[in-house]
Amino acid sequence: MMIYFDNAATTLRKPETVAKAVYDAILTMGNAARGAHEASLSSMRTIYDTREMLCELCHGESPEQVAFTANSTEALNMAIQGLLEPGDHVITTVLEHNSVLRPLYLKEQDGISLTILPADETGMVYPEDFEKAIRPQTRAVVCTHASNLTGNCLDLCRIGEICRKHDLLFLVDASQTAGVFDIDMEKMNISVLCFTGHKGLMGPQGTGGLVVKKGVNISPLLVGGSGIHSYSKTHPETMPTALEAGTLNCHGIAGLHASLQYLKEKGIHNLYEKEHLLMKTFYEGVVNIPDVKVYGNFEQEKRAPIVTLNIGDYDSGQVSDELLTRFGIATRAGAHCAPLMHESLGTREQGAVRFSFSHFNTMEEIQAGIEAIKILATE
Ligand code: ALA
Repeated sequence: MMIYFDNAATTLRKPETVAKAVYDAILTMGNAARGAHEASLSSMRTIYDTREMLCELCHGESPEQVAFTANSTEALNMAIQGLLEPGDHVITTVLEHNSVLRPLYLKEQDGISLTILPADETGMVYPEDFEKAIRPQTRAVVCTHASNLTGNCLDLCRIGEICRKHDLLFLVDASQTAGVFDIDMEKMNISVLCFTGHKGLMGPQGTGGLVVKKGVNISPLLVGGSGIHSYSKTHPETMPTALEAGTLNCHGIAGLHASLQYLKEKGIHNLYEKEHLLMKTFYEGVVNIPDVKVYGNFEQEKRAPIVTLNIGDYDSGQVSDELLTRFGIATRAGAHCAPLMHESLGTREQGAVRFSFSHFNTMEEIQAGIEAIKILATE
C-alpha cells in the first residue's frame, strides 16, 4: 500500500461520506436555480447549505457572499483581475503560488505596480514588512495564509490590522489552510478569501470559491446563464450570482457539503493537533540526519503540516522517485508552482522534496518515512 504524503497537492483519502454524497448527487441532483421540480430544488438546497457552512467556518458576513468556483486559482483570478485597476500598487510576497503571481503579472501589463516582499532564510515574511512597503497608491495586499512549499504561515490578524489602518483591500489565498486553521474574516479584516475544496476541506476536486466582504464589488470574469433575469443583456450583479455563470458543480458541492459536516463533527482543531504531531515527529526524525536540509520555520506554533527537505545535492525529483519506487512513499518534488519561494531558498535548480500530512496518516507511516530518508541519505 502506498504511503501518501502529498496532501498539500490534494488530500487523497477523504471521508467515506464525501464519496457517497457525490455518488448520490449524481443520481439525484438536477440543475440548481433552473427549475421548480424536486431535482432542481434539492440541488439548490444543498448548495445553499454549503454556502452557509462555509460562511460559518470562515466567519463571513452572509451565505450569499460565498461564490463557488472550480478551484482557488479561478477564485484568485476573479478577485485579482476583478478588483485591481491601472495605477494600483499591490503588495505581495515571495511565498506565493503561481495562482497568485501569474494573475498579478497579468495585471502588471495593465498598469498595476507590484512590491514582492522578500523572505528571510527560514522563508518568513513579517507583518511590519507589509506596512513598510505601503505607498500612497497602494490599494491591496494579496498573500497566502501558508506557503505550499515550507508550510510557514503569515500572521493574517496583524496583516489585516495593517490593511484596516491604511484602508487596503486584503485578498487571501487560503489554499493550504481552509479547513486546517480557524480563519476569521471579520477579525482578520479579510476582503476576499479564496479557497479550494479538495485539500484541507477534504472535499472533491473541482470545488472551491471565494468569500467576499460586503461592499467589495468584483467585476466578473465570466458572464452568461444565471437562471434569473434571462432577458437582461447584462449578468446579474447580486451575490453570489454575480460571480457564478453557468451550471455549478452541484455534484462536487454535495461532496463538499459532506466534508464540511465531517470537519464540523471532528473539529478542525482536533484534526490539526494530530497533523501537527505527525509533522513534528517527522521533522524531529529527519532534521539531524547528516546531509539533510529542512526548509521553513519550525519555531512557529501553527504552521501547515508540511516538511520540505533536500538530501545533499541529490536532485529532488530523483529522491522523490526513489521514495516511491523503493519505499512506496508518495511526495511532491520540483518547483511546486512556487518559483519565488524556491529562488529565495536557493533551490531553483535542485527543487525540494515535500512531505505533506493529513490526519489520516499514521505514526507508523511517519516512522517509515524517516527510515527511508535515513537510508537515502547514507548510501
Ligand atoms: N498547489 C498544489 C501543491 O502545492 C497543487 O501541490
